Amino acid sequence: MKQSGYIKEIVKSGLENDQEKFKAALNELIEYSKKTRKINFALQLQSLLKDAMQNSKPIGPALVGSDTYFARLEDRELNDFIIEKLTSNYSLENLICKDELRRDLEYIIKEHRSREIIRKFDLPIANKFLMYGPSGCGKTLASYVLAGELQKMMYVINLGAIVSFKLGETSKNLAKVFRKASTDDCIIFIDEFDSLGKVRDYSQDHGEMKRIVNTILQLFDYLPQSSIVIAATNQIQMIDSALVRRFDSMLKFELPGEKQVRELIQLTLRNGTFRFSNRNSFESVIKVCEGLSYYGIQKALIGAIKRTIFEKTEKNESDLSNLVIDTRILKQMVKAEKKNLLQL
Ligand SMILES: Nc1ncnc2c1ncn2[C@@H]1O[C@H](COP(=O)(O)OP(=O)(O)OP(=O)(O)O)[C@@H](O)[C@H]1O
Ligand SMILES: [Mg+2]
Repeated sequence: MKQSGYIKEIVKSGLENDQEKFKAALNELIEYSKKTRKINFALQLQSLLKDAMQNSKPIGPALVGSDTYFARLEDRELNDFIIEKLTSNYSLENLICKDELRRDLEYIIKEHRSREIIRKFDLPIANKFLMYGPSGCGKTLASYVLAGELQKMMYVINLGAIVSFKLGETSKNLAKVFRKASTDDCIIFIDEFDSLGKVRDYSQDHGEMKRIVNTILQLFDYLPQSSIVIAATNQIQMIDSALVRRFDSMLKFELPGEKQVRELIQLTLRNGTFRFSNRNSFESVIKVCEGLSYYGIQKALIGAIKRTIFEKTEKNESDLSNLVIDTRILKQMVKAEKKNLLQL
């Protein structure tokens, strides 16, 4: 049967309100999508089905204080902690970085793709990574790249909310999130990992930080080998050294050097609609970008492109196909970005 056949089955059983047939047809479509390498689509369907089954498990109102009642409360809380649940189409080509980081990321991908072989030899698989470095240098993007390359579902966890929400309950909340996420073969992305450091300021109880560190270490130990935890921070110095040691590797993200700026601009302009007037103007822009993050450079470039378009349209120029970026405007935008950075 083709995809359209499965969809027709699903629609038919849905309209007939036949839950069993509906689930069976949906499962068949999931299997078919996996076979035809539409893995992200299969993962999304699987996750929808799983969520729907979980939500519909206890039919009717739950007795206050019963297990079901507490389970439902827990599910509601969990939704506050998990910001996003997503699949990704990003690949390594979307990320510009220095060679060392690229090699590290390539190796992670390789190791997880060859999991079965490593497992045969009873060797551990590295699955806990700490990404650190300045804002706008690709930590979140690199996580999407890993999710895309490994075709895994990714849970983005709001550590800020977990830590500050209910003091004294941080460890419990972390355990809940991990328990939920580690049942799936997934990537758990914990952003703002440094917010754990806030515990020291909030808590009067000095044992709290120790408890949290212990909880995380235990959770790390129970993490299935097929799942990956990525913690990200732009304040590595805020993180307890006992925790830092427990990651399998640390991935360092840095501001772009000249080579990376060149690659980033080429990547951003890759569809060919916009260009520089000549090699010299391109090179002169690269020089002024030094000190900005990838994000800052991309923002300035896109800003300059938009302004170039507006200038053209205001002059009533009809040919908007092959636009030459005004480097004077671009340099102004870069300067403005740098000024913003100084004010932070
Ligand atoms: N190394 C990179 N290669 C290509 N594009 C990048 C890179 N770094 C950042 N960008 C661009 O900037 C955007 C923001 O980057 P990202 O969110 O990954 O930064 P971050 O390191 O997670 O920052 P923060 O610490 O503020 O969370 C990306 O979506 C992408 O468009
Ligand atoms: Mg980020």
